[in-house]
Amino acid sequence: MKLIDGKALAETIKGEIAVEVQHIKAQGGKVPHLAAVLVGDDPASAAYVRNKVRSCEQCGFKSTLVRRDADITEDELMGIINDLNMDDDIDGFIVQLPLPQHINDEDVTLAIKPSKDVDGFHPINFGRMAQGLPAYLPATPYGILQMLERYDIETSGKHCVVVGRSNIVGTPMSILLSRKAKVGNCTVTLTHSRTRDLAAETRRADIIIAAIGRDNFITADMVKEGAVVIDVGINRVDDATRKRGYRLAGDVDFEGVAPKCSYITPVPGGVGPMTVVSLMMNTLKASRKEIYGF
Ligand code: GUN
Repeated sequence: MKLIDGKALAETIKGEIAVEVQHIKAQGGKVPHLAAVLVGDDPASAAYVRNKVRSCEQCGFKSTLVRRDADITEDELMGIINDLNMDDDIDGFIVQLPLPQHINDEDVTLAIKPSKDVDGFHPINFGRMAQGLPAYLPATPYGILQMLERYDIETSGKHCVVVGRSNIVGTPMSILLSRKAKVGNCTVTLTHSRTRDLAAETRRADIIIAAIGRDNFITADMVKEGAVVIDVGINRVDDATRKRGYRLAGDVDFEGVAPKCSYITPVPGGVGPMTVVSLMMNTLKASRKEIYGF
């Protein structure tokens, strides 16, 4: 069993991006600039955004944090998005989700200019991705593709079972892995809460992508000997022995499953850090106008 060290790989890629940014600066080019909008005081969202800002610093990017209270109106938030859309110095931006109940996530996603949508959440980017056109790829699936590529894990002709059909992980992952591409050419089964005999499906998998959001959901009896297991889950589990009162657990029962795997990602230190790096890669692409040419 080999561990896929997402934390180390993320550091390597951030180092590569920093070198690129130094070249850009040396040639008098524009420093990539990412903005993040954080609404409210959800501690998990605040931690994610802090991480994104810190990663910008590590990559040599400029970053701008726009922070607003939870009682902001949808109109006010739309005004901020409009300003960011128009600001030529901002290459890309994200609005951290979830948003307070009174704000419609969908309206917000649609308001972001696709050429600045470095989260890859806008339907224009999703559609372009689905058709294999240049697009910002959503961060988590993009991070997983990077892991598979950098660890030289063969995907062509393999059977991949994706567990979970969310718009930001499961569904795009299933599309990306079935594409005719260097990391792709899988036969993909997309499973979800209504799948009959899920264990029979996962047992046939050469590659399992677990993105269901339930701790210890994938157990050893559901995994074939030699499978590659990618754990997307970041679940908070009560743990009185920890100072903060909880620990993070993935969707996979790591202890039970790891001995059967050829490769497996840990939680924490697996997919999570790669997600942030993907956002940095998308921001670099945005500053180079690689996707849309403007
Ligand atoms: N909330 C959880 N994950 C994400 C993400 O990747 N982007 C944004 N904007 N919000 C999130």
